[in-house]
Amino acid sequence: MKPVKIKEGIFWVGAMDWDRRLFDSLIPLPDGTSYNAYLIYGSEKTVLIDTVDPSKVDILLSHVKDVQKIDFIISQHAEQDHSGAIPQILDKYREAKVITTPKGKGLLIDHLHIDGERIITVADGETLSIGGKTLEFMHTPWVHWPETMITYIHEDKVLFTCDLFGSHLATSGLYSEEDWKVSEAAKRYYAEVMMPFRVTIRRHIERLEKYQIGTIAASHGPVYNDPQCIIQLHREWVSDKVSNTVILPYVTMHGSTQLMVEYITESLSDKGIHVERFNLPVTDMGKLAIALVDAATIVFGSPTVLVGAHPLVMSASFLVNSLRPKLKFASIICSHGWGGKTVEQITGMLSNLKLEMLEPVIIKGKPKDDDFKSLEKLASEIADRHKKNSIV
Ligand code: FEO
Repeated sequence: MKPVKIKEGIFWVGAMDWDRRLFDSLIPLPDGTSYNAYLIYGSEKTVLIDTVDPSKVDILLSHVKDVQKIDFIISQHAEQDHSGAIPQILDKYREAKVITTPKGKGLLIDHLHIDGERIITVADGETLSIGGKTLEFMHTPWVHWPETMITYIHEDKVLFTCDLFGSHLATSGLYSEEDWKVSEAAKRYYAEVMMPFRVTIRRHIERLEKYQIGTIAASHGPVYNDPQCIIQLHREWVSDKVSNTVILPYVTMHGSTQLMVEYITESLSDKGIHVERFNLPVTDMGKLAIALVDAATIVFGSPTVLVGAHPLVMSASFLVNSLRPKLKFASIICSHGWGGKTVEQITGMLSNLKLEMLEPVIIKGKPKDDDFKSLEKLASEIADRHKKNSIV
């Protein structure tokens, strides 16, 4: 995509990455992503906000090939998908300085070996006038690293948010055209990247209430000219409100756990609870992350392998613990042949979460009548907890 004018003197000069399918060697990117960089022309100074991933340096350089002077590169986030082309921009523009937070300075030096003499640090709330445009820098730690900041241009009411409000989505246009696709991509992005920092992000969003925001220009995904929708979605995601949903990540080896999963799915559904199932060997883990954004309860289903939980269930429980969702209740259903430590292993994996553990259902072999009664009891306890906590 060629550079796109967003406002007078403000241009998108980033790069689309249609074919990337994995981020951090972990996060699935079914729709690719973009690295959004923005060129701002003041009457006195020219500024570049963020750069692009190292793999797309040539695209950024082609977008600025006719730009005679860049005075400042605003590095809002030191992660390489945004900072990766700073060395090349500094090489091309020998007078340019990088502006970042004090923590950002250390990270840029560590990760990119940028000369510290070329870095200026800014305090939270500090402003920079570039002639007709006033940039305010807001420190916003943990969106998504500890050094992150966002930038607001007062005259244009544009907020540059880097990872915050982003979505991994490559698009042929800069603005969101298919709202459903954008909201799913934004939720997936929030789930995979931002959810662990939910409480901090809530404070950042509250702080933004005093700003008039006409445009949100994040560094991944579409630009929002009507930003209230994406802000409101994030308000819901970071709130403490949970939905009347049970998530069921599970593995079955010989069908016994499958029978337990089938039974409890039906029983929960009969009680008016929404169930989302994830057969882990074939699950897109991004979909599981999305479900974790607002579900009230999780029930892990596992067979027993080498006297413990199935490795895919352990991996899923590790992910759940790391993402720190606002789950309130959890349980485990498991079939074994001659014993095992499945409950201890899964429970031990969930130490970050403030969960009430409901009595697991551990059975031997293929479920029998009494086992189904135990599953029925678990489903009733979940329904009861949801009701008592007004989770509807
Ligand atoms: Fe888009 Fe945290 O990098």
